[in-house]
Amino acid sequence: MRIDVLTLFPNMFQSPMNESMMWKAKETGLLDLHLHDIRDYSHDKHRAVDDTPYGGGGGMLLRADVLVYAIESVVALGDHQPPPPVILMTPQGRLFSHDVARELAQHPRLVLVCSHYEGEDERVRQLAITDEISIGDYVLTGGELAAMVVIDATLRQVGGLLGAEGAELRDSHADGLLEGAHYTRPPVFRGLEVPQVLQTGNHAQIEAWRREQALRRTWERRRDLLRKAKLTEAEKYLLAKFAREDAQRLK
Ligand code: ADE
Repeated sequence: MRIDVLTLFPNMFQSPMNESMMWKAKETGLLDLHLHDIRDYSHDKHRAVDDTPYGGGGGMLLRADVLVYAIESVVALGDHQPPPPVILMTPQGRLFSHDVARELAQHPRLVLVCSHYEGEDERVRQLAITDEISIGDYVLTGGELAAMVVIDATLRQVGGLLGAEGAELRDSHADGLLEGAHYTRPPVFRGLEVPQVLQTGNHAQIEAWRREQALRRTWERRRDLLRKAKLTEAEKYLLAKFAREDAQRLK
């Protein structure tokens, strides 16, 4: 997957994109990352990219002429058809999620635009942006950290990054539930023992246990997710049991 990022701070990407799985993704050719400094597209001798807002108000805005020229130049670097989505990282965008990551992973190329200061001239949206994404209901100082989150989560959904075949299918959220607990050696640590069932080697039992743990954890932490999850009758019965246990505890 080719990803082009337009940013005022390309150096922010250096460490996160060169360690661990992102490094591996680049090494194996799964990620073809291109960082573009928006300042390189300024026609100004001081490389200015921002200006004060019409009508007053604080802060500075990224100029439409600079940013649209930068985006159009970057899009033209590839010959992908249809043209790639051009995604503005902004707290006003649609909320990023596992499903959005899977959707983005279907594209051979993405262009991510990191805004800064108080935002950007509205005409950038009208002329050059096809999608807007927020990574949460809070405001970051710029879109760079958000872009890195989107790149990481999206690449996990491109087959081949994770070691075990289809490991991404077992992630929390992949089936609408959080993952349950995991354990490794030692079998007993400070009196806490690895659940017996995991030590039996009985795969059917282990799978059933894991599914119940995932259900229980989702019930305890993110009950809202259960409304969308696909559950069997037996699993719905388990949820009813959790509810009864909760009610019992409250008595
Ligand atoms: N830029 C600033 N805040 C952001 C957010 N929450 N998500 C995406 N981009 C942003």
